[in-house]
Amino acid sequence: MQAILIEEHGGPEKLVVQELDPPTPGPGEVLLRTLVTSVNFADIKMRRSLYRGRKPPFVPGFDGVGEVIACGPGVQTIQVGQRVAAYTKGGSYAEQILAKEVLCYPLPDNVSEEDGAGIGIMITAYNAVTQAGRMMAGETVLVHAGAGGVGSSAIQIVRALGAKRILTTVGHPKKVQACKSLGADVVINYQEEDFAARVQEETDGQGVDLILDTVGGKVFEAGLTCLATFGRLVIFGHSSNEAGFFESKPLHRENRAVIGYSSGGIRRHHPEQLQPTAQNVLDLMVQDKVHTLVSARFPLTQAPDAHRLVESRQSIGKVLLKPE
Ligand SMILES: NC(=O)c1ccc[n+]([C@@H]2O[C@H](COP(=O)([O-])OP(=O)(O)OC[C@H]3O[C@@H](n4cnc5c(N)ncnc54)[C@H](OP(=O)(O)O)[C@@H]3O)[C@@H](O)[C@H]2O)c1
Repeated sequence: MQAILIEEHGGPEKLVVQELDPPTPGPGEVLLRTLVTSVNFADIKMRRSLYRGRKPPFVPGFDGVGEVIACGPGVQTIQVGQRVAAYTKGGSYAEQILAKEVLCYPLPDNVSEEDGAGIGIMITAYNAVTQAGRMMAGETVLVHAGAGGVGSSAIQIVRALGAKRILTTVGHPKKVQACKSLGADVVINYQEEDFAARVQEETDGQGVDLILDTVGGKVFEAGLTCLATFGRLVIFGHSSNEAGFFESKPLHRENRAVIGYSSGGIRRHHPEQLQPTAQNVLDLMVQDKVHTLVSARFPLTQAPDAHRLVESRQSIGKVLLKPE
C-alpha cells in the first residue's frame, strides 16, 4: 500500500511516498481502507520535532474515515463493510489504516465522509465546550483561531448549544466571512486591533463567560484580562508554542477557572469516554447543525503541499488528504 512517511524531522519535503506492507489487525482492532484523512496541526509539530519526542521514521496522521475491510479477534461492535470515522493506531496518511474498536465511530448513512473526517476536531471542540468549559445556554463565548479546524468546529458547536454571543479571533481579513457564516457575531482580526480590548468593548466591560484557547502564550495571558466573573478559560492547544502564565489571586477572588483539556490524554487513559461525545457530534451532523468546514483537498501523495498550506496559516477549516 502507499503511505506517507516522515523519514527525518524537517520541512514539508520530508514527507515522502513509500510502499509499505498493510498492517494486520490485532485483538480488538480493525483494518480500514482509507477514504479520507486530514492534516492536523499536531502533524506539523511532529514533522518539525515539536511534539512529545516522536522519532522518525513514522507515518503521520491521527484520524480518518475508512471502510472496514478486516476485524481482529474479539471485535464485537464493528463489521466488515461499515464506514467508520476513527482515531487511528499508527499514522493515518496511508491507504490502509488500523484503529482500535473503541476509537471507531460508525457513520450514519447521511453523514458524509468529509464530515466524518472532522470527527477528531469536533470531539475536541465539543468536550472543550461542555466537559471542560461547562458552557451554559445564553453565555458569551470567545473562540480563538476561529477559522482553524478546531476553531471552526467550536463556533458551530457553541452556536448549536445555545451560546448567546460568539466572538472569535483571526489573523487575516480573508477569514472573517468564513467565521461569520459559521455563526460568529463578532470577528476580531488581532493583527489590526487588540483583541482583549475589543472583547471588553463588545461586552460593556463584563468580559466573556468562556474562552476557548488553542494558542497559549501571550494570547492566553491577554485572555485572562477579558474573562468575566465566574468565567472559564479552557486551554487546549499551544499553536504559539509558548507557555502562558497566570496569577492565582484574580481567579480565586472572581470565581474564575483555567482548565486544561486534551483528547489525546483521554484516548490514552479512558478511550471509551469519547464514544458518547462522538455520538453527540454525529447527532449534530445528522441534524444539520454542524459540519466539517473543508477548504482544500489533496491527493494523499501531495501531502507536502497540504502541509505547506496549513503551515502558511492561510487554510480555512480542514485540509483533507484522499488516496487516489
Ligand atoms: N487538546 C486537544 O485535544 C487538541 C486536539 C486537536 C487540536 N488541538 C490543538 O488545537 C490547535 C489548532 O489545531 P487545528 O487543527 O485547528 O489547526 P489549524 O487548522 O492549523 O488552525 C490553527 C490556527 O491557529 C492560528 N494561530 C494563532 N497563533 C498561531 C501561531 N503562533 N502559529 C500557528 N498558528 C497560529 C492560525 O490562525 P490565525 O492566523 O487566523 O490566527 C492557524 O491557522 C493546535 O494547537 C492543536 O495542537 C488540540
